Amino acid sequence: MLKSFDIYNQNNVLKIIVALNLLLVGTGSLLYTNRLINKLEDREKQYVQLYSKSIAYLFDTSHADAGDLTFVTSEILEANSSIPAIYVNPDNQIAMKRNIDVPDDYTPEETERFLRQKIADMRKNHMPLPVEIGNGERGLVYYNNSNLLRQLNYFPYALLTILAALSVLAYLAFSSSRRAEQNRVWVGLAKETAHQLGTPMSSLMAWVEYMRSDPDQFDGSITDEIEKDVQRLETITARFSSIGSIPTLKEENVNDVVRQFTDYLARRISTKVKMSVTSQLPPGQLIRINKLLFEWVIENICKNAVDAMKGVGELRLNMVLLPHDEVAIDITDTGKGISKANIQKVFSPGFSTKKRGWGLGLTLAKRIVEEYHNGRLYVKSSEVGKGTTFRIVLNRK
Ligand SMILES: Nc1ncnc2c1ncn2[C@@H]1O[C@H](COP(=O)(O)OP(=O)(O)O)[C@@H](O)[C@H]1O
Ligand SMILES: [Mg+2]
Repeated sequence: MLKSFDIYNQNNVLKIIVALNLLLVGTGSLLYTNRLINKLEDREKQYVQLYSKSIAYLFDTSHADAGDLTFVTSEILEANSSIPAIYVNPDNQIAMKRNIDVPDDYTPEETERFLRQKIADMRKNHMPLPVEIGNGERGLVYYNNSNLLRQLNYFPYALLTILAALSVLAYLAFSSSRRAEQNRVWVGLAKETAHQLGTPMSSLMAWVEYMRSDPDQFDGSITDEIEKDVQRLETITARFSSIGSIPTLKEENVNDVVRQFTDYLARRISTKVKMSVTSQLPPGQLIRINKLLFEWVIENICKNAVDAMKGVGELRLNMVLLPHDEVAIDITDTGKGISKANIQKVFSPGFSTKKRGWGLGLTLAKRIVEEYHNGRLYVKSSEVGKGTTFRIVLNRK
């Protein structure tokens, strides 16, 4: 059975709303500019038709007497200041061009080749318009989209790119603020717990002292047991208070720390779990750690291992040197293993397959290793029914 906290998932609805809005704005502007482009194209076509008619009028010899109208047509011809157009006369000669920049240093042959290339390009976009100049002769006007229209064509893509970039930025900002919030929850909870435990614990210590001072009334061995429990509580409190502040790292002998702590753990877990520690590290190998928190990590992983083996099996800790000045501590169990699908999930807060699990142990362990020690914690290998190896990697001094 899986359990999961929902406090961080409520924002999913918001995310979907934002994403839908972006999609709406994106497609909306795409459709709108598309309509605009179509309209402009129509207008430009109409304009070129007018332009062709003017050319026809100018070149048509059958109304030579109507010279008084040529000024209108030449006005129209001049007015086209944005649509590139080329008029090819019935003899297939380039007779007129508008809004086409031919480089100054071109020879007539180069210019001709340049314009013919332009005509080929134009033909790809628009059918040329016929120009009837009488006697059954006809020329052709080739044209292309104006600069404005061409730019407008790129606009939706530019807009979509900007929108995409914005949503990525928004997402990053969003998730980093979420992470910051999670951090505040962790740290706050830890500090508060440590703080609250302080008072009852000093009072417990005072009771222990009191009991010790009256050995007639209180059995010494019971007092010892209670004192051990109080000490254990003190360790827990110290852990909580160190995770709530920036922990101090100290150089420690990794072999000693791991051995001492596993000895301590071994006394606390089922005797049916065979625990062993091996090391390929140099005997004096130092690493910079916060001992309290590091032990907490080992404890969390080992407890999970014991759970996975249902209290019977083998728990092996092995330390090896890695290239790039790193030390690995491998913790291997012969438990039920983790399925491929769950390997990604075991470190997420709230993920637990246990009846009474909170699913925070590995989250905390990962946080301690990665954020406080700059190391790595991951499942090195796992096979369902066979067992699992967790690996802690820390920098060697
Ligand atoms: N050694 C292991 N073998 C198999 N499953 C494991 C092991 N360690 C962790 N898991 C899985 O990861 C889950 C999360 O572990 P943890 O964060 O410590 O939370 P909890 O112990 O409260 O369930 C466990 O419920 C278990 O399903
Ligand atoms: Mg656990």
